[in-house]
Amino acid sequence: MVYLNGDFIAKNKASISIMDRGFLFGDGVYEVIPVYNGKIFRLQAHLDRLQKSLDSIQITNPYKTKKYLDILTQLISFSSVKDQSIYLQITRGADTQRKHIFDALIPTIYIESNPLISKTKQELSKGFSAISAQDIRWSRCDIKSISLLANILYAQDAKKHNVEEVILHRNNQITEGATSNVFMLKDNTLFTHPTGPNILSGITRDLVISSAKACKLNVQEMPFSLDDIRQADGLWVSSSTREIMPITLLDDQPINQGVIHPAWSCVFDHYQQLKND
Ligand code: PDD
Repeated sequence: MVYLNGDFIAKNKASISIMDRGFLFGDGVYEVIPVYNGKIFRLQAHLDRLQKSLDSIQITNPYKTKKYLDILTQLISFSSVKDQSIYLQITRGADTQRKHIFDALIPTIYIESNPLISKTKQELSKGFSAISAQDIRWSRCDIKSISLLANILYAQDAKKHNVEEVILHRNNQITEGATSNVFMLKDNTLFTHPTGPNILSGITRDLVISSAKACKLNVQEMPFSLDDIRQADGLWVSSSTREIMPITLLDDQPINQGVIHPAWSCVFDHYQQLKND
């Protein structure tokens, strides 16, 4: 079952107009929200970010928090799986003809939820590989836009190279991953790119920051470079579906000689604790 514009229906029965601007222009925004043990994780933070994305592209939010909560609660109850990943998309809606200029339309709201299989600590402790690439995306990466051409090309490149993620850099500064935020650990300080137009302000990013502080790490929201990473004690990526993943090989070169710094374990444990709160 999925949710589309007010109805819960079978996924293969759900359809939208070919004039939908999401289809024609990628004119819309989205959220990915994890559900742990039947509980929606950090819903308000996701709804706040959704509101910011909608405001940025001038779509009026069709629902209030209570309505989202009701819909999502019902949607996740259709599955007996306790951990799920909700995908929520709002597009500007369908016009009568294709034109770049937009009028006020009725937004299209689509929500689905799928099983979420998080990697265990043991699985994560093996470490993961990544490659780096020039960040060729536009300058409003803070908007969680459904227009993801650059991101899907990176994801495909990651698949081709048999790596987990692509770490992006712009003007010699690491911005974020193709589908994640990036953290560098050096001398007990955790660095991550500051929020702003060049990165998505990850919900997990905020939780990594608070967990890192709880683990007595200093946190610096400031840019760092690819060269800095080569000398780093740790490199992590974070997202709602990946949680906090240690990268031990970047462009075929080991980070911290391939050893995962113990600080990762502390931050990971702290994050797991938040999931149970
Ligand atoms: N992506 N940066 C980018 C470019 C992302 O696509 C994501 C998440 C993040 C992390 O955000 P959060 O911690 O709120 O999940 C950062 C989701 C999972 C996706 O597109 O499927």
